[in-house]
Formats: sequence, C-alpha cells, structure tokens
Amino acid sequence: MNIDWKNKYSKIMKDFDGYSIGKIFKYLNDPEIISLAGGLPSADMFQKSEMRKASIRLLEENLENIFQYTAVPGEPSLVSAIIDFLKRDDIQVASENIVITSSGQHGLDLTGRLFLNPEDLIMIDRPTFAGAIVSFQMENPQIIGIDMEEDGSNVEEYRKILKKLQRKPKFIYVVPDFQNPTGITTSLEKREALLDISYEYDIPIVEDSPYRDLRYQGKSILSIFALDQKRNGTNVIGVYTFSKIFCPGIRVGFNIAHKDVIEKMGNIKGGNTLNTPKYNQDMCTAFLTEMNYDEHMEKCKDYYREKLDIFLQSMDKYFPKDIGAKWTVPEGGLFLWVSLPESIDTMKLFYEAIKYKVAFVPGEVFYGENPSKNHLRINYSFASKEQLVEAVKRLSNCVKDHLKV
Ligand SMILES: Cc1ncc(COP(=O)(O)O)c(C=O)c1O
Repeated sequence: MNIDWKNKYSKIMKDFDGYSIGKIFKYLNDPEIISLAGGLPSADMFQKSEMRKASIRLLEENLENIFQYTAVPGEPSLVSAIIDFLKRDDIQVASENIVITSSGQHGLDLTGRLFLNPEDLIMIDRPTFAGAIVSFQMENPQIIGIDMEEDGSNVEEYRKILKKLQRKPKFIYVVPDFQNPTGITTSLEKREALLDISYEYDIPIVEDSPYRDLRYQGKSILSIFALDQKRNGTNVIGVYTFSKIFCPGIRVGFNIAHKDVIEKMGNIKGGNTLNTPKYNQDMCTAFLTEMNYDEHMEKCKDYYREKLDIFLQSMDKYFPKDIGAKWTVPEGGLFLWVSLPESIDTMKLFYEAIKYKVAFVPGEVFYGENPSKNHLRINYSFASKEQLVEAVKRLSNCVKDHLKV
C-alpha cells in the first residue's frame, strides 16, 4: 500500500507552506519581464578578478584542506578577520562570541531553534523581512507585529503591548539599517529605547544587519549591539551575512552574541549543517583581508546610490501620485516600499503586472499576522539603469489601468 505522506509529517510541518516569496518567482521566467522582485545585489559589484585570484590561490595552495570537513563553529582565520571587521563598527567581540553560519537565513534559523517553543511569543515590526518570519514560523511561535513608523520601530507601541501581555516574548526581531522591505532606518533614539525595553522587560533583541555598510547618504548610526556593549550589556544577538556586500552565492554569514548563546548555536549547527564549507569561508576571509574593503564599499555605494536616484526620479516623473500613492526614500540598502490606496490588493496587482512585463513583491508576504494588502516592495539594485526607468513606466501604466477597471 502507498504511504499517505501527509499523515506522516510533523504537526508543525503539516501546515508549513515555506517561503512565500519563493512562490511568486515561478512567474518570472519570461526574459522580457523586468524584475524588481528579488533581493539580489548586482553582479556588476562582484569583485571578479580578485575573486578569481583568491580562488585559484586557495585551490593551488590548499586544495586538500579546503575540501575537508572543518570545525563546526567556523574557521579561525575568518573569525579573526570578523573580529577586526567589527571593531570598525565599535563592536568588540572575541572568538567565543562568534559562530560562522551558512548565511543570514541560517543565522535566523539558529536563533529560532535556540529560543522558541511552539506558541512562544515573539515581537517583530510590521512589515519585516519575510525570510525571518518563515524561519521563525518553523518553530510555530505566536507573532506580535507592531506597525513601523517613518523613523523605525514604534517603541511606544512595543511598550504598550508589552504592558498588556501576560507572557514575556522570547525576543524582539528588528532590522534597524535600511530595513527589508521598507528601506527604513531606525533612529538612534529608538535603538536606545529598544534597549531600554530589553533591559526593563528582560527580552533579548535580535538585530539583523545585512545592509549596514550600504549607506548612500546620511551618517551611520551605532548598531543596537554596539549601544548595548556601551552599556555593558549582552542582550543583543547580531545576525550578519556576506550576501549583500560580497556575494550571495558563497552562503556565509555569522552571528554574534554572549558566549553561552554562541556555544548553543554551535551545538545546533552541529545538528543541522555541521560545518560551513571551508572554501566559502576562506573566500570571505580573502574578501575581508585582501580585497580592499573600503574601496569596494565606496564603489558599491556609488553604484547603488545612482540606481536609487534613477528609480526615485522615474517614480516622480511617471507614477500616478494623485491616487494617494507614497513611497519611502531610503538612505541605503536595496529596497523601498510603495504604499497604494487601500482599495488595491497588490497580490492581484502582481498578476496584472506580469502581463505588463514588470514584477515586484506583494507587500503581504512581509507580515507575520494580519497582512496589509496595499503595499509593494521594490528592489532597485539588480535591474540595469535603463530597465529601472522602463520598469517604472510599466508599473505606472499597470496601476493606472488597474484603477480604470
Ligand atoms: C534582513 C535580511 N536578513 C537576512 C537575509 C538573508 O540573507 P542571506 O541571503 O545571506 O541568507 C536577508 C536577505 O535578503 C535580509 O534581507
């Protein structure tokens, strides 16, 4: 007799639908579609010749080792490069505070697995990164979302809800720099206020920082991790990835936290991915130590700033503003957030946009509960400059025609 597989799945996985963004990508195979959907950095910013050089050196000098199993917590050479890298950002950590991950998504997975029992509470911004939501959902928590404000997390609302809760949330998850999906940056005051909440209510803060160094204008604001250290605290878990500053294909990142948390995350890593490939880690070490980080980041910033400007100028020129649409103007990162009148369901609009040969991510996937339906996320880093202008024209026509129907 054939097995009825659905009856074999674990309770949590039975209802687990996977990564919501992934499902829309199957509509993007048509090469004529200009996609503003993915979170891809531009391959123009890959340091191709430096990567080739480092790769050949690794293969020639150390082939036997780089294709071996290696230590679960990470390569000491990469850990040491990360310690130096973080010093530039006012963060002082030792190797016991770092676990190398197989990228940011893995860092989030380790966090969810370590802290969450089914039905535990977590608090997140509304909207927030869909990949974090899906990764935490694997543990089946109850998600409390707090609407974002223009200058970041709504700390007053966090406080108000916390006062009413009977149970303590396990953590608060935030992306303070150029948040995915909104591009919003959380102000210094609000970062401090989040820390106040953390101390007062005894709740860890998970700070996810993939875009931190991709600032195109304005002054850098200290990370919540650094602010916590200045207060001699250890309440923050930092989640980092090399995906947006080096390349996503390498799948390497790192988490930083109190040594006990890191030890536990290492134990979990031993049970899920074991070691992160040494070749990939060594390439990241080369990225940090041999590939002129500052020069590379300046290049990235100039390149993405220009694309953002072109996108914003095209929106001003072509997008129907009289309908009450508005959009964020990020100071960095890879995304911005367009809010349309409440009558427009952007999931429906997505399928219409495909006919206009343009794609975005419908905003509803960025909510852990009670999704808001009239927003869309735009990625401006991947399409070419010419494509960005054309994409805005197509999107504008799509929205105008949608409203005529
Ligand atoms: C806020 C945030 N965290 C984590 C990740 C995951 O990064 P990675 O691709 O390195 O797994 C992303 C990727 O888009 C992100 O935007």
